[in-house]
Amino acid sequence: MGTATVIDGKALAQKLRQEVQGQVARLRRDERMTPGLAVILVGDDPASGIYVRSKAQQTEEAGMRSFVHRLPADVREEVVLTLVRGLNRDDRVHGILVQLPLPDQIRTDVVLQAVDPAKDVDGFHVVNIGRLAAGIEGAMVPCTPSGCMQLIKSVRPQLTGQRALIVGRSNIVGKPMALLLLAENCTVIIAHSRTFDLPGECRQADILIAAVGKPRLIRGNWIKPGAVIIDVGINRVDDASDGDKKRLQGDVAFDEAVEVAGAITPVPGGVGPMTVACLLRNTLLAACRSRTIDPSDL
Ligand code: GUN
Repeated sequence: MGTATVIDGKALAQKLRQEVQGQVARLRRDERMTPGLAVILVGDDPASGIYVRSKAQQTEEAGMRSFVHRLPADVREEVVLTLVRGLNRDDRVHGILVQLPLPDQIRTDVVLQAVDPAKDVDGFHVVNIGRLAAGIEGAMVPCTPSGCMQLIKSVRPQLTGQRALIVGRSNIVGKPMALLLLAENCTVIIAHSRTFDLPGECRQADILIAAVGKPRLIRGNWIKPGAVIIDVGINRVDDASDGDKKRLQGDVAFDEAVEVAGAITPVPGGVGPMTVACLLRNTLLAACRSRTIDPSDL
């Protein structure tokens, strides 16, 4: 018998998008200002292509301007940097997102650090990471961890003292996730590929965030009864019923975990939709800050 609450990321994301849409409409009416998001896509990775199309579509649905810049896979780093610098100066653009991964000839760090921190809606610039780490107000918070926090709080509003385990130490998810949970007074542990006893660490976690990209790594008997499980994994695996097809699978064995956990996010329909909704919110925030408008006044 499945006992866990399945957290509806799609519904939560829709609510957040509607909120942003309302604020954008009032910003346009009262301030004569339309937030704009520029996305840079280098190369032809099919998954990145799908994400960028979806981001552009949702940006427009929220009433904002979308600018998508597609560059060939063999583009030189200097060309990407020139584009970023141009977008930094463009007043129609309030948010800039460089879709990752970038091809090998381009240094990801150099490109990400060239983005104006005020337009860094991904929260990857050292200024924003530093603000988040130091607890200084005004950080752009990375979208996936920000979405995860809202999913967690939808089922567990009070996190003080809870033991949180993050599996995965990436700059995009693991590290900023740890900072956000720490700010909520959790006891935070980051596990990774060198962790000695991953199942043992998982069994102690009240909140477990899986962000490693290994399908079904985390099994049902690794989970503490009643724990909140957030599955960030988006793994494309062969469909058992049709070998030609691919389907999405998380880092958690959902069918097993749902029997033990208190609450769990599905894949798809959990973290993914929240990530894009948070990107839209960050773009609205960046637009408001460019004119010192308080978004809560909208
Ligand atoms: N590729 C996978 N996740 C992300 C993300 O959060 N931001 C960007 N820019 N690219 C990604």
